[in-house]
Amino acid sequence: MTLIDVKNHAHPHKNFNAIVVRQTRFKAQKIGRHYTDSTLMSHFLTALSITFPEGERFFVETVRNVRAQIEDAQLQKDISGFIGQESHHARAHEQFNQNVQDSHYHLKKFEQVFAKEMIRLRTLSHRRQLAATVALEHFTALIAGYMLKYPDFMFKGLSENMTNLWLWHAMEEIEHKHVAFDVYQQVFSNLAQRRRSMRTITIGFLTSTAVMTAHLVWQDRQHSLYRPQELLKNIQVMGGFGLMMLRLLPEYLAFYRADFHPSQIDQNDLLKKVKKTWLSTAY
Ligand SMILES: [Fe+2]
Ligand SMILES: [Fe+2]
Repeated sequence: MTLIDVKNHAHPHKNFNAIVVRQTRFKAQKIGRHYTDSTLMSHFLTALSITFPEGERFFVETVRNVRAQIEDAQLQKDISGFIGQESHHARAHEQFNQNVQDSHYHLKKFEQVFAKEMIRLRTLSHRRQLAATVALEHFTALIAGYMLKYPDFMFKGLSENMTNLWLWHAMEEIEHKHVAFDVYQQVFSNLAQRRRSMRTITIGFLTSTAVMTAHLVWQDRQHSLYRPQELLKNIQVMGGFGLMMLRLLPEYLAFYRADFHPSQIDQNDLLKKVKKTWLSTAY
């Protein structure tokens, strides 16, 4: 992890990448049973995607709840970018999920359980709701960074159309990773709550992602578990997930520091690279 010292900058977010709201190039069309080289990775990405439409709309709401209290003009601009990007992501993943559902998977039950959890979250105070968003946005940025850094692990076998969804989303998550955090700091600036919410969200996020992935693997057991070649590949990918958690641990723990800011995790080179390669050809 490369850490940047932003403490002395009066407006650290001014140094950040512009938040550009882009239309997705992803076309909602029939998605096969699996869309990555390993069936496990495909199920993991689907598990993430299940939570996106509801989750990202919730993120937007939690920021909107307190937006009027933000006086910083640059941050107001960033909030608009954040809302634009997340709204597009929610819509694209809704279409994606519908197509996955059409290819023999049952996602409705998860979506319903998740929607109920979102209703519960909305009964909490604005501070706790936004702290939950801040924690989840940290997870999102970590996973997005990992996708850009290790595409051979996360995206192996992904079609061009699917890359247009996942790479686009990952890139924009990194672009706006500081927005919810800065809003939280300016409005509430409560460290104890930020840490508390991260602990709760960590358990919830890891458990729900693991359970949903496992359910999808089970629904697809004929391909994912009963074929020795696939099983072997999936065991390797399991090891890859262990490695991913180990590699992301320092960045995850950094969140608990009193002086943490998302921009301290330097992902600028990754962004530059993806903009130079994929983005320049896709847009
Ligand atoms: Fe998003
Ligand atoms: Fe986000």
